[in-house]
Amino acid sequence: MHEKSFHMTPEEFRRHGHAVVDWIADYQSRIESFPVLSQVKPGEIRAALPEHPPAKGEPFEALLKDVERLILPGVTHWQSPNFFAYFPCNASGPGILGDLLSSGLGIQGMLWSTSPACTELETHVLDWLVPMLGLPETFLSSSTGGGVIQDTASSAALCALLAGRERATNYTSNQKGCDGHLIAYASTQTHSSLEKAAMIAGLGRANMRLIEVDENFAMRPEALARQIEADKLAGLVPCFVCATVGTTSSNAIDPVAEIGRICRQHNLWLHVDAAMSGTAALCPEFRHIHDGVELADSYNFNPHKWMFTNFDCNCFWVADRKALIQTLSILPEYLRNQATESGAVIDYRDWHIQLGRRFRSLKLWFVIRHYGVEGLQHHIRRHVQLAQQFANWVRKDEHFELAAPVPLNLVCFRHKRGDAINQGIMDRLNRSGHLFLTHTKLNGKLTLRLCVGQTNTQARHVERAWERIREEAARSQ
Ligand SMILES: Cc1ncc(COP(=O)(O)O)c(C=O)c1O
Repeated sequence: MHEKSFHMTPEEFRRHGHAVVDWIADYQSRIESFPVLSQVKPGEIRAALPEHPPAKGEPFEALLKDVERLILPGVTHWQSPNFFAYFPCNASGPGILGDLLSSGLGIQGMLWSTSPACTELETHVLDWLVPMLGLPETFLSSSTGGGVIQDTASSAALCALLAGRERATNYTSNQKGCDGHLIAYASTQTHSSLEKAAMIAGLGRANMRLIEVDENFAMRPEALARQIEADKLAGLVPCFVCATVGTTSSNAIDPVAEIGRICRQHNLWLHVDAAMSGTAALCPEFRHIHDGVELADSYNFNPHKWMFTNFDCNCFWVADRKALIQTLSILPEYLRNQATESGAVIDYRDWHIQLGRRFRSLKLWFVIRHYGVEGLQHHIRRHVQLAQQFANWVRKDEHFELAAPVPLNLVCFRHKRGDAINQGIMDRLNRSGHLFLTHTKLNGKLTLRLCVGQTNTQARHVERAWERIREEAARSQ
């Protein structure tokens, strides 16, 4: 006699799974028919959902129908080729399928022994990426360092700051806490996750110095050096610097080599945040963005931004894995096992904040194998070309101007007639649903940002975006 069960059988799973994959493929085919930015009002999605959970299970078909009917209107279509906002969060067929397999296996890879393949594939794929991106050999697991997949760049920054804090205090802050003397440095343009890391790591926001930038929004190394000297003179303890390769506002690239030399001189932990732009280094012609990274103690980029790997997937490397492990390792009795004791394996739980971890390397492995280096380079190059073409149109237009250099795939531009007209253009375009743009402020002026990085963005999408921007501008005259 069978035990009573509410579970989905493998046969049912197969049937519904096919329907879900069909639904996703259909979604991909019709994605351009949806308004890119969701048009719902606050509370509208919840108001359409039943107040109470179902007492009895429902047929799977009803669930999928409700995704279409109730959820889709509240989706902002990040995977639309007309998505130019923020930085991209792109996905791809191999990424989605790798993620599905990870869910299907349902493993939790906190220790090598809890799924050796989860650890070893991750180490291997992160080693592959070192030469793919022109990163220093010290980041290889066969050297003193190694790489790990984190959920986000924010988590990577926090781990880097913690390791920098511990190294500067001879690993005593973990025991005693911080005494308010430790100082970290970033630029005024650094992503806010660094300030958050200073809050969480116990340094305090006021001890995160935001160093001024030059006319291209890149950190001024001489200002950094001056600030470090002043802090030392005041009896404070500098411990950490973050340099950014591709800032969020304007894609500025900090002078990593000069910053690195200052860090070496003062023995400060240098973290390089290349969240989106690191992907560009897949192409030899853009690899100069990594000049100086050999001086870094840690580095990260997000394949979940621009390398066709579904969210979430952040790759984080350190040059000296011992410093990171000593910072984050704690071994309760219930996690002890022979493999760990042997010292022959990596236990990634010691490389990040949380204990449990998903099999994220599977989707990254699928992406790299599906595209090959050549395929990845092709699409990255194309995105950069399209952004550069857009920048040229802006340069030639009498009503618009560029607001920052365009090193890669982000164009910061504005209508010359001030903030109100730019705000109006952006709001109307976003309301139209035809495309989605976001803004920043540069030198106090509202600036529009157009980032080309969605997986399927092609020339026609960028051309049409420029036409629509100009049409809206003409309407505002
Ligand atoms: C330069 C930079 N660093 C960090 C982040 C934060 O990324 P995440 O969402 O992975 O924490 C971003 C996000 O856009 C970013 O642009």
